[in-house]
Amino acid sequence: MIRLDHVTRRYSHSAGTIRALDDVSLEIPFGTFVSVTGPSGCGKSTLLNVLGGLDTPDEGEIWIGDLPLHRAGDAALTRHRRFDLGIVFQFFNLLPAMTVAENVELPLLLRGDPAGRSQARVKEVLDLVGLSSRSTHFPHQLSGGEMQRVAIARALAGRPKLLLADEPTGNLDSTNASQVAESLLTIAAQNLTTLILVTHDEALARLASRQIRMRDGQVASPG
Ligand SMILES: Nc1ncnc2c1ncn2[C@@H]1O[C@H](COP(=O)(O)OP(=O)(O)O)[C@@H](O)[C@H]1O
Ligand SMILES: [Mg+2]
Repeated sequence: MIRLDHVTRRYSHSAGTIRALDDVSLEIPFGTFVSVTGPSGCGKSTLLNVLGGLDTPDEGEIWIGDLPLHRAGDAALTRHRRFDLGIVFQFFNLLPAMTVAENVELPLLLRGDPAGRSQARVKEVLDLVGLSSRSTHFPHQLSGGEMQRVAIARALAGRPKLLLADEPTGNLDSTNASQVAESLLTIAAQNLTTLILVTHDEALARLASRQIRMRDGQVASPG
């Protein structure tokens, strides 16, 4: 279970303080496919960032299973990022000088997985997103949708408990966006991980088993 308990994250501006997250409480069982929608600036990215340990709440508790993320030290946070978490952003952040397979394998090698095992895993996740025929290509040889599917494969390679996706189709045309949506659905259908998807695409959001709506830093509808 992933649990947020009265989580608040404030940002101070010259004009005053805003609450990017304002007393948010949520419980998400592992394995669920959750979508998060809401107007720009309502706190969606902040929610993903605190779940990923990229940002720390000012108040409240965040539990990823038995890990208290709100008071985790550097070592525990690093472990969480390497072993429990996959993240996909709007921009794919692939390394241009590395092939598709090398991009996907990199996080596994960085955390010390043996090369033989990591290569088998790379093949599996590239199959999953339908890109095994592209493994020796370089990012610039791919369409935007293909690059994003590589980023999804990379995020999934380490078998994370939690996959966070922040507007992964936000930078894609509709054809590429639907290919990416298909890969996300495959992941959800096979129950490979907990998937928390922030999107502006209402049709994509409706495919989730649970739809959370946010407004002004709060959960307007918990789904
Ligand atoms: N690093 C930051 N510094 C200051 N304000 C921020 C920062 N990150 C987010 N905010 C503010 O917090 C609010 C929520 O932002 P965000 O979570 O990015 O919203 P969303 O992803 O829903 O568009 C916004 O008002 C935004 O300006
Ligand atoms: Mg955002």
